[in-house]
Amino acid sequence: MNKVFFALTCLVLIAVLSCQNKKTVTINQPDRKWWKEAVVYQIYPRSFKDANGDGIGDLKGIISKLDYIKSLGVTAVWLNPIYSSPNDDNGYDVSDYRNIMTDFGTMADFDELLKGLHARDIKLVMDLVVNHSSDEHDWFKQSRSSRTSPYREYYHWWNAERGTPPPRYSLFDVNHDAWRYDLLTKAYYLHYFSRKQPDLNWENPKVRKEVFDIMKFWCDKGIDGFRLDAFGFAAKDTTWPVYPKGYEKDFSKYYALQPHLHDYLKEMNQEVLSKYDVMSVAEGTGNTNEDAHNMVDADRHELGMAYPFEGVDIAKPEGYSVLHFKQVFSKWDNVFADKGWLSVFLANHDQSRLVSRYGNDKPAFRELSSKMLTTFILTMRGTPYYYNGDELGMTNAGFTDIKDYRDKATLTEYQHQINIKGDMKLFMKTTEFACRDNSRTPFQWDGTANSGFSTGNPWIKVNQNYTTINAAAQESDPNSILNYFRKAVKLRHDNLVLVYGKYTLLDSENPDTYAYTRELDGKKILVLLNFRDHAAAAKTGIDLSKAKLLISNYNQPSSDGSLKPYEASVFELQN
Ligand code: GLC
Ligand code: CA
Repeated sequence: MNKVFFALTCLVLIAVLSCQNKKTVTINQPDRKWWKEAVVYQIYPRSFKDANGDGIGDLKGIISKLDYIKSLGVTAVWLNPIYSSPNDDNGYDVSDYRNIMTDFGTMADFDELLKGLHARDIKLVMDLVVNHSSDEHDWFKQSRSSRTSPYREYYHWWNAERGTPPPRYSLFDVNHDAWRYDLLTKAYYLHYFSRKQPDLNWENPKVRKEVFDIMKFWCDKGIDGFRLDAFGFAAKDTTWPVYPKGYEKDFSKYYALQPHLHDYLKEMNQEVLSKYDVMSVAEGTGNTNEDAHNMVDADRHELGMAYPFEGVDIAKPEGYSVLHFKQVFSKWDNVFADKGWLSVFLANHDQSRLVSRYGNDKPAFRELSSKMLTTFILTMRGTPYYYNGDELGMTNAGFTDIKDYRDKATLTEYQHQINIKGDMKLFMKTTEFACRDNSRTPFQWDGTANSGFSTGNPWIKVNQNYTTINAAAQESDPNSILNYFRKAVKLRHDNLVLVYGKYTLLDSENPDTYAYTRELDGKKILVLLNFRDHAAAAKTGIDLSKAKLLISNYNQPSSDGSLKPYEASVFELQN
């Protein structure tokens, strides 16, 4: 018998035998990873803390708040892009990948920030924006200069003598047209996002090498991971097929995970990711569960963690179905039950506020529902991501005047709606609820002017409720959302079962509550959540009389599954 095969069989046998004694899965050592056990805190640098009074958050501002970040108990920070950028899309249009945006500071500030995080045992994950660059990047300037430029093939060009290119939908273009005509060389270039965000041509090995070198540059500086922005779109079908009418309603079905994407990811893994102890997570996951799984199946050597959108897309202005919510999260857990790894999140910089979308931001329920959602995020399997300000229960600003909005997508869509004589009332209503500027208003540090964010004039208005909702007020209140968040983070760190344990949905047809267990190595935890503003009962059939309460957002939590409005109670069950 082949020796390797024999050794493997023995290992499997040992694993099976040792598992037979236990009721639940044992985590193999090699499967444990720091990034699976991490709690990720997402910082939107522009809005976090302004140190020099120009109204824009900056790296020195983040540095001044490192002790606050540490006090949360989070173990990794994901920073939205901080590279040089003309800021057409708040840094998602990079003009120099090896430099820091002037608004944010200098490379020396960055080094200090990284050192300060590491000194506190917090990892740093950078946003990697390489589906596109800025049109002000040197590569694009060269590429556009002539048809024979050595950089021409760094981007996608369609020469005008071929006629108009087959339609492609752009998210941030006033005409939704992803092809932009450039007079200089009489050709169109492709931009899935804004005109100032031309798409890079990943078919070109030189582009791939440039990106891998950039990644190595940051890894050599000591960063701990990458979040790959819009990467599902990086590979294109460059035979440029004509898509059926109406394709734009479901454009990601046509754009995402085109041929070669997995090849690019494998190459990235081989060239960069495998050489460093870094986490890697791609925004979006393609069209199917299988796509998502293939990206992060450890045996395929691509990425480490998936970040599927389905969960974050559930909330609508008119509300959402708890049954649907449970189905989606249970489905995704199931996809990754044996292999691969998942992110768990309900908010980020592209969504409006957590409590306003998924909870209830009315004064009577804001705290309770924030705490309930926190409990959910921190007790699911997968790596939890928490967006800055949600730990205070910050709410949507809901600006009613278009002049208060800064978001590129909103401003171009506003113009588009005017051009097509759209329903502006409806547009504004949707924007008030869903616009991502809602989560980009300045962090509410205290009740002083501009919420303690800046001594200058903030680049975007502060939410007026900062006088009551702010970190300073919550620090001193043991029952605040902030202090609850800290407790819930600690609970996760103290209980490996919450990271790796098997997830089982209970009382699945209950339209109001969400109940599940997590199990690992004989330890069993029960999570009971009420998603409603009225009392509701979770019928789990579990006797709670001997259960130990681990955390609750009520002083007198449920003892029999009947839950108060937005109640969240977590128990350790006795065997
Ligand atoms: C991603 C980012 C978003 C950005 C877009 C274009 O979706 O999360 O903020 O606008 O990519 O880079
Ligand atoms: Ca500043």
